[in-house]
Amino acid sequence: MAGDDHLKQITFHNQKTAPIGMGTWRVGEGNAETTKQEIESIHYGLNHGINVIDTAEMYGEGLAETLVGKATQSFDRSDFQIISKFYPYHATPKLIKASLEKSLNRLQTDYLDLYLLHWRGNTPLAETVSGLEDVKKAGYIKDWGVSNFDLSDLNELASVPDGLNCVVNENLYNLTSRGVEYSILPWQKKHNVDFVGYSPFGSDKNEFLKLKPEIKDIAAQKHVTVFQLLLAWAIRNNDVLSIPKTSSLSHFEDNLKALEIEFTPDELDLLDSYYPKPTHETPLDVI
Ligand SMILES: NC(=O)c1ccc[n+]([C@@H]2O[C@H](COP(=O)([O-])OP(=O)(O)OC[C@H]3O[C@@H](n4cnc5c(N)ncnc54)[C@H](OP(=O)(O)O)[C@@H]3O)[C@@H](O)[C@H]2O)c1
Repeated sequence: MAGDDHLKQITFHNQKTAPIGMGTWRVGEGNAETTKQEIESIHYGLNHGINVIDTAEMYGEGLAETLVGKATQSFDRSDFQIISKFYPYHATPKLIKASLEKSLNRLQTDYLDLYLLHWRGNTPLAETVSGLEDVKKAGYIKDWGVSNFDLSDLNELASVPDGLNCVVNENLYNLTSRGVEYSILPWQKKHNVDFVGYSPFGSDKNEFLKLKPEIKDIAAQKHVTVFQLLLAWAIRNNDVLSIPKTSSLSHFEDNLKALEIEFTPDELDLLDSYYPKPTHETPLDVI
């Protein structure tokens, strides 16, 4: 498989993989030039050992999945994992199957590695889990998971039949949104549910991240960019798959270098002093 053997690795979904994947929100929605860059970016990632792609039926109402399908056709399907997600109002067994068929068509593949409930809606979890187990048994997905679940959602999930077959929960995670460290990450470790952290840079145009100016100074002292610092911080404990989105090869190159950045205990303490570790349960941050 193409890849960089020196890359830091974690075990994600029972496979050794780099601790970063590729986000695809807002891709596939632009003109021929941006489409070309987005495809090149996915090729760059796959050629450099970044082999988990995160997408959703919501992203551009299928346009992101279509682009991922195009971009991945020349790669061996067993060399990368695709995560996709369905809307909460498609969370009944019948609608899950219908959404999944459309996603598979757009992605030009016959299976997903992981299929996630994008966020909680009104369908009882037992019904959603039963629908997910059906499509898993039929071979259309390898496994399933959830996204934007807080502690009470996870506990409720654990209480329904087959609920603990959930293998992933994907939540917002970056330096300024670290509430999940208090009880969600420990819960997931205990129950063998992998954690995917989204929006390490605060999403598009970083609009959900108002960084304190001192963070810039800390990055400068380490001779790294703020983006590299943020990404390296998100993956510092080898227990998170962070999924930054970039459609720029030079940004991608920068992001790969974040895999080599380590923090001293003093640097971590300093970052904690600006963005403290959670000391109590807080409402889940979402984008
Ligand atoms: N499950 C959920 O509910 C949920 C919610 C939100 C996001 N997600 C997933 O998480 C992924 C990542 O989150 P996100 O897209 O919201 O935001 P993000 O990854 O935090 O930030 C993306 C932004 O950062 C820029 N960027 C990336 N690398 C950079 C670098 N090295 N230097 C400067 N700018 C850089 C990108 O622009 P360029 O393209 O120009 O580099 C883009 O504007 C999404 O794409 C999606 O797959 C999931």
